[in-house]
Amino acid sequence: MAAEKNEYTVLISEEEISRRVKELGKQISTEYLGKEILLICTLKGAVIFSSDLARKISVPCELGFVKAKSYAGDHTTGSVDISFEDIPDIKGRHIIIVEDIIDTGLTLKRLSEYFLAKGPASMKICAFLDKPSRRKVGIKADYVGFKIEDHFVVGYGLDHNERFRNLPFIARLDQ
Ligand code: IMP
Ligand code: MG
Repeated sequence: MAAEKNEYTVLISEEEISRRVKELGKQISTEYLGKEILLICTLKGAVIFSSDLARKISVPCELGFVKAKSYAGDHTTGSVDISFEDIPDIKGRHIIIVEDIIDTGLTLKRLSEYFLAKGPASMKICAFLDKPSRRKVGIKADYVGFKIEDHFVVGYGLDHNERFRNLPFIARLDQ
């Protein structure tokens, strides 16, 4: 196997991630006290963040999944493929869309338009990472784990050609 440790530089450690996810869970639990949440995880990137976050939320919480794909390797294709199979009923629910990272904003724009049209009681966006300098459309997350510079990052669910999703930290890929 290739010496993976020389291919990246750690940007956000496992400890920092764990602390921040705990804070986000606490904030969401406080803000949704007395309500039930439908957490919608965007596959595959947000799967690890969603599972950690869900376990730090203390109000009742259902999980739903959508599959979105816009990246090929380390560049955005500019078009977003979304598969909405297996999405629970949205109408009248308090939904939170959980994303791994907001880059151009195109994926979340598509997702939020789709879900808003289904008549949720409320809709918020929770993104683990945000690269504001890359934005092409006006999308803002209600909850953000960390803001980062314009680096291609991997780990904690984020991939490069399906590799590195299992790293427990966020790292910048060295070119
Ligand atoms: P957007 O539609 O341009 O906002 O891109 C969102 C999707 O692109 C994310 O959900 C990721 O799957 C992917 N993506 C964007 N930036 C990165 C990155 O730095 N590393 C890995 N995936 C990324
Ligand atoms: Mg994604």
